[in-house]
Amino acid sequence: MGDEYAISGEYLHVLSEPAWHALRTPVTEALRGAVGDGTLLDVGAGTGLGTEVLATAVPDADVFAVEPSPVLRAVLLSRMAARPDLRRRVTVVAADALGADLPARLGAVLAMNMIGHLDPDGRRTFLRRVAERLAPGAPLVLNLQPPAEPTPVPFAVFGTVSVGRHTYEGGGSAEPSGPDTVTWKMQYRMLDADDTVLREDHADYGWHVISAEALLADLAEAGLSGEFGSLDVVRAVRRS
Ligand SMILES: C[S@@+](CC[C@H](N)C(=O)[O-])C[C@H]1O[C@@H](n2cnc3c(N)ncnc32)[C@H](O)[C@@H]1O
Repeated sequence: MGDEYAISGEYLHVLSEPAWHALRTPVTEALRGAVGDGTLLDVGAGTGLGTEVLATAVPDADVFAVEPSPVLRAVLLSRMAARPDLRRRVTVVAADALGADLPARLGAVLAMNMIGHLDPDGRRTFLRRVAERLAPGAPLVLNLQPPAEPTPVPFAVFGTVSVGRHTYEGGGSAEPSGPDTVTWKMQYRMLDADDTVLREDHADYGWHVISAEALLADLAEAGLSGEFGSLDVVRAVRRS
């Protein structure tokens, strides 16, 4: 399998940090009920920005960070290994949401900014796999990203971040590519101090769109009861 993040992987961590600055509080809030006598699971962990929030929510609990992309996993592994507290607790797993061997009891599950990578069957299978293992009262925390329908999204710059003399810029547009999919056309640029474009990279990836109602229905079918919080962060727990 190719690495969908082979090109964007270089840029993703620095460009995701501002978004995670905003997500930290709603995700921490949604992680209430997480328990330390089960493994904490971050699925599609990327470079570990959510893994850090998850690990902080339940100090001392074991964490599995599942990441299929080799380039993102390299950043994830390096970042976790660089922090003595996390190096002891975080196991980096080279697998995807459906192929990963999951621990029998999960103390909380995080799946941020990734659910659109799964097709509808895969999404439902993933939700069932998680629901079967979640400890009572322990949350699955995930989010939806626009669009909710397969509609065009005009190009926009999502963010810029400066590191040294360079500014990194990420942006993109989306086009419908099927009844429930869009293709995101991402653009990454690196600019010099005088705004000269030094590098420009492009990456396309498919994304399965899902409405809030459809996600809540899939969660219910898996035996989970979900609710939306701020920044569209969803918290779901097993129905008793
Ligand atoms: C936009 S990134 C989000 C990364 C991280 N969760 C965050 O919020 O910073 C999407 C992540 O989902 C991962 N991914 C893609 N397909 C996946 C799959 N089938 N199962 C699990 N993760 C997947 C990608 O490799 C990538 O790390």
